[in-house]
Amino acid sequence: MVKICGIGAGYVGGPTMSVIALKCPSIEVAVVDISHSRISSWNSNNLPIYEPGLEEVVNHCRGKNLFFSTDVEKHVNEADIVFVSVNTPTKIRGLGAGKATDLAYWESAARMIADVSKIITTNLWSAELSKLADNAFLAQRISSINAMSALCEATGAEVSQVSHALSKNTKIGPKFLNASVGFGGSCFQKDILNLVYICESNGLIEVANYWKEVIKVNDYQKGRFVKRVVTSMFNTVSGKKIAILGFAFKKDTSDTRKTPAIDVCKGLLGDDACLSIYDPRVTEEQIQKDLSMSSSVVKQVSVVGDAYEATKGAHGICILTEWDEFKSIDYERVVYENMQKPAFVFDGRNILNVDKLRGIGFIVYSVGRPLE
Ligand SMILES: NC(=O)c1ccc[n+]([C@@H]2O[C@H](COP(=O)([O-])OP(=O)(O)OC[C@H]3O[C@@H](n4cnc5c(N)ncnc54)[C@H](O)[C@@H]3O)[C@@H](O)[C@H]2O)c1
Repeated sequence: MVKICGIGAGYVGGPTMSVIALKCPSIEVAVVDISHSRISSWNSNNLPIYEPGLEEVVNHCRGKNLFFSTDVEKHVNEADIVFVSVNTPTKIRGLGAGKATDLAYWESAARMIADVSKIITTNLWSAELSKLADNAFLAQRISSINAMSALCEATGAEVSQVSHALSKNTKIGPKFLNASVGFGGSCFQKDILNLVYICESNGLIEVANYWKEVIKVNDYQKGRFVKRVVTSMFNTVSGKKIAILGFAFKKDTSDTRKTPAIDVCKGLLGDDACLSIYDPRVTEEQIQKDLSMSSSVVKQVSVVGDAYEATKGAHGICILTEWDEFKSIDYERVVYENMQKPAFVFDGRNILNVDKLRGIGFIVYSVGRPLE
């Protein structure tokens, strides 16, 4: 759960944080203050501040996802985001008295944040490059394991076994080692392209080319997946119904920005396949927009309301997002029975039990695993 800490339970901090808590029930909001009387009043039936509707908002959220506390350091330490709204009165003595702002409260809050939280201080360019490198390194890891998946298929290795072995090396660790149809999302490609641009602007062509390869391998992986589908299905998907299960770039989101499903679907449509697309959260309108469908393509695509409808009468299934519900579909009695034979499954997220599906009768391709 994302945690927000608001320092200063005054006129600004109290109401602002209360409304954040109301509007974002999945976020935990702590409002902290050094003033015990203010905090105890926020925790009473007699709020220290009046604003129309404020009492209702506080009564609705307090104790659920809105907390008032004097334990400033604890909440700052635990928070993902810290807002500061402490008082900044006019100085009453010393330099600028009567005019300048007294920043003593602000400075004391800032120093406390620096002491208890894990703020990393860098120069401007380090901050910029750290942000880009963070996403570039994650994307690079995915492209690395995806590149390995191609080699696994060629040699007879299993990429999940290779990732498992790698994950045991504490210097490598277990995260971001799942081979798939490719990475998506709004950030990875954008940030790598930005990095490439900065490298080129600084004349670092070799470095730029190095990072470009991360994107190229990702494109290669998507293209390889399409090629696998077409070649497996007797070198033609023309006029064949293919069920596309999942369109979002990852599970539990409706976000389709840079989703690999766009390239895979366009690749299959280019080979004249008929697609029946189902995603639990992505709207038909969004899918049509993403596939920038011309009137001829519209005839080739239908967006349907569940996985059974999508797979009914299909020659093949492509799993393109790792939604949990795709694991519990009744592949044996419903899906297989209602599909054309031979029935193909192309698992682009490696979420299904390949041996079980093969036992049912499916011809199964999963990324980085030898074909049967
Ligand atoms: N943008 C606007 O429209 C707007 C309007 C009003 C105020 N402000 C600004 O917002 C800030 C807060 O204003 P306010 O009216 O809420 O002030 P306030 O005096 O009502 O509340 C500030 C609170 O901060 C607490 N505080 C001070 N130092 C602290 C610390 N180190 N740790 C924890 N708590 C601390 C005080 O005890 C006080 O309760 C000020 O800088 C003010 O200028 C902005």
